[in-house]
Amino acid sequence: MSRGTFPDRFVWGVSTSAYQIEGANAEDGRGPSIWDAFSDSQAACDHYHRYPGDVRLMKDLGVAAYRFSVSWPRVLPEGSGRVNTAGLDFYERLVDELLSAGVTPYATLYHWDLPQALEDRGGWPERDTALCFADYARVVHERLGDRVHTWFTLNEPWVAAFLGYGAGVHAPGRKSAADAFRAAHHMLLGHGLAASALRSAGAARVGAVLNFAPVMTPGQVTDPARELSEEDADAVARIDELVHGQFLEPMLRGRYPERLLNVVESAAGLGHVRDGDLAVIAQPLDLLGVNYYAPSVVRAQPGEPADPVYPGSDGVLFCTVPTAVTAMGWPIVPGALTVLLRRLSREYPDQELMITENGADFVDTVTADGIHDVDRVSFVEEHLRALLAALDEGAKVRGYLLWSLLDCLEWADGYQRKFGIVHVDFATQRRRLKDSALWYRDVVRRNGLGD
Ligand code: NOJ
Repeated sequence: MSRGTFPDRFVWGVSTSAYQIEGANAEDGRGPSIWDAFSDSQAACDHYHRYPGDVRLMKDLGVAAYRFSVSWPRVLPEGSGRVNTAGLDFYERLVDELLSAGVTPYATLYHWDLPQALEDRGGWPERDTALCFADYARVVHERLGDRVHTWFTLNEPWVAAFLGYGAGVHAPGRKSAADAFRAAHHMLLGHGLAASALRSAGAARVGAVLNFAPVMTPGQVTDPARELSEEDADAVARIDELVHGQFLEPMLRGRYPERLLNVVESAAGLGHVRDGDLAVIAQPLDLLGVNYYAPSVVRAQPGEPADPVYPGSDGVLFCTVPTAVTAMGWPIVPGALTVLLRRLSREYPDQELMITENGADFVDTVTADGIHDVDRVSFVEEHLRALLAALDEGAKVRGYLLWSLLDCLEWADGYQRKFGIVHVDFATQRRRLKDSALWYRDVVRRNGLGD
C-alpha cells in the first residue's frame, strides 16, 4: 500500500446545508426561518430546482456520500404541528436521485435554520424547542428512514448557540450569555431526544456534528510540543472547556465539566438543567462528525475582559498568528487536525469518527481555461495528509466529507465567501468545476493522494 493511500471502504464525499444552497424560501409551503430575516439568501444556488444537475455533478466526481441538511421550516412551517407534505416530497426526490446515482445520503436535521415560529415562542433558550425538535426528527425519519440510514441530529450547536444567542452575529441575533447557555443545553437535550427517537424508529446510524477548533497558544502553532506556562495552560484549558467540553462531555460522557458548570451557573443559573437531562443527552453515538477548519489561538492576559462569544473567558486573549491564512483570515494549520484526532482517539477510544466538514475559502479567479484554485487544492491535500497521519496512529475515522460541493451562502458573510470545489455564477446559476474538483475526483478514484 502506498503511503498516501486511505483504508479500504473509506468514505469520500461532500457536504452542504439547506439554507446555504436551496433557495425557494417561499415556495411549496416552506415557513420562514430565523435566517430569512437575518440575511438575504435570495435564490442561493437554486438547488431546490437544480438538484438533479447537482447530483449529476456528485456522480461525475465519483463521491460515495453526500451530507445535506433538511430544512425544518420546509417540513414543519410552524415548527411543530402541521406537516408540509410538499417539503418532505422535495427531500424524497433528492434522496431518490442520489440513490439512483449511487451516492449515499447522510442527512443532518438541524443546520441552523430554526423555524421563525419557534423563535417567536422563545427559541432554543426554551425547553419546548427541544421537544419540538424530536417530533420533527420523527416526522422526517418516517418519510425517509427506509432510504436514509445515517442521521446527524445537530450541526455545530456551539456556533448556533453562542454566535446566535450570545454574540448576536448569527441568527437570531440575540446578545445574552444566559440565553446562549440555555440554548446550548436545550440543543443538547433536543439531540438526545431526537437520537433516541431515531433509534427506536430503526435508524441504522445516528450521530451529531460538532465544530472543533483545537485550542493552542501562538507558540504551539509552530511547535505543538511546546511547554506551556501554568497561566497559558489554564487559558487553553478554559477555552477548550467552553467550546468542546460544552458539547462533547455531555454527549459522550453524560456530564458537564465542573468548572464550566460554575460559568453556566453564574451566567444563567442552573434551573434549566433538570434531573435526568444528562442521561437523555448521552445517547450512544454511532458516528461523531468532526468539522475542522482552524485552531483557536489564545494566551493568558490578566485583566482581559471576557470575549462576548465566550462568556467566562476573562483573562484570555485571542491571538492572530503569523501563519498563512484563508480569505476568511483563518490560520492554515493542518497539523492541528492530527493533534485533534489523536486527542479524540485517546479520550473517547471507542467512538467512530467522520470528518463531516473541512475546506477553505479563497478568492477564485475565473479564466477562459478554468478556475485554477491551487490554494484550495493544497489546503485539502495538506489536511488529508494530516488525516492520514492520524489514521496511521489508529484513529477510527471512517470518511472525509469536503465542505463544500458548491460556492454558496456563507451565513452572515453572504456570497463573497467561496468554499466550493464547484464554482457557481449566481447571476446565471451556471456551475463550473474548479481545478480542486478535478483533483478531488482523482483522490476519490485512487482512494488517496499517491506518493
Ligand atoms: C461550518 C458550517 O457548518 C457551515 O455551514 C459553514 O459554511 C462552514 N463552517 C464554513 O464556515
